[in-house]
Amino acid sequence: MKARIAVLPGDGVGQEIVPEAVRLLKAVGERFHHVFEFVSGDVGGSAIDKVGVPLPQETLALAQQSDAVLLGAVGGPRWDGLEYHRRPERALLGLREQLGLFANLRPARLYPMLAEASTLKREVIEGIDLLVVRELTGGIYFGKPKGIEKIPGGERGVNTEVYTTEEIRRIAKVAFEAARKRRRRVTSVDKANVLESSELWRRVVIEVHTGYPDVELSHMYVDNCAMQLVRNPRQFDVLLTTNLFGDILSDEAAMLTGSIGMLPSASLGARAGLYEPIHGSAPDIAGKNLANPIATIASAAMMLAYTFHLDKEAEAIEHAILKALEQGYRTRDIHSRGTKLVGTAEMGQVILENFNQG
Ligand code: IPM
Ligand code: MG
Repeated sequence: MKARIAVLPGDGVGQEIVPEAVRLLKAVGERFHHVFEFVSGDVGGSAIDKVGVPLPQETLALAQQSDAVLLGAVGGPRWDGLEYHRRPERALLGLREQLGLFANLRPARLYPMLAEASTLKREVIEGIDLLVVRELTGGIYFGKPKGIEKIPGGERGVNTEVYTTEEIRRIAKVAFEAARKRRRRVTSVDKANVLESSELWRRVVIEVHTGYPDVELSHMYVDNCAMQLVRNPRQFDVLLTTNLFGDILSDEAAMLTGSIGMLPSASLGARAGLYEPIHGSAPDIAGKNLANPIATIASAAMMLAYTFHLDKEAEAIEHAILKALEQGYRTRDIHSRGTKLVGTAEMGQVILENFNQG
């Protein structure tokens, strides 16, 4: 197989974790005889520093002309003062929108040996294995009208939560299809007791469900879901939800697994898929060899599985990660007494060695 992969490390720890994932992908190419071409681009704050905008035309073109995109993270306090439309985060939103990446898959699984690293009790989190299916190009993130306007006596800030039938339909299908490869249960999360957009959401999800009689569908209000996630997360298989609710609930789901440094994601749509850890640029630990590269390496594994349909290769990476954890290697975020504390590069190296031996 031949493929072109856009590599966009971005800001903060993105610069440290992305190279570790690229090393693994190169090793996959060698061992399984695939030709991966890697082309790097600037995105986020580092692009602002170089060319003045968070998503340069060149980077967008690179992403559009690639088969898949590997992204690190964007943002940092240095760029927080910038006008809204020039901030690093706009790059991510622009990529999602321009590439048509409407489906965001965020799997949260507990590695048994990390139960101690979670802030929750072992008996609550043991055995969790859920998938957040987050709508990614609609809802309040993109709805219009939006903006800040002057009004007598002050200002008025506006965003609009909006969903069309078609937007709901296509993401619901993704969730039901994903459930078929898992435990066949979808929980659709909305706020249908208050919001009209949620009322439509629920109606359309029910309609799409008629095509998936083998999948069990239930509905949950988002406030209840936030509570159920820490009360009894094992009840969930696939969580189907909107852009904003998915943003919030996926961070919560990540912490169940011990660290936000463990969770990969895939953003899929009409064109090239984008793969990134769900965590941010972590400016407080950036450049110190402290970040956990596992979420990014696992995102590379998702790329192999979802974009290239290389399941064997993806499993080999996942196995190498599991083995590193079994061997007791831990970055600081997942470290507990009696395990071996390592940095970003060492963790990447151990996983690479496990892969090469596998
Ligand atoms: C995420 C992030 C982004 C989002 C930010 C960085 C724009 O929090 O991917 O979850 O809100 O979608
Ligand atoms: Mg988020």
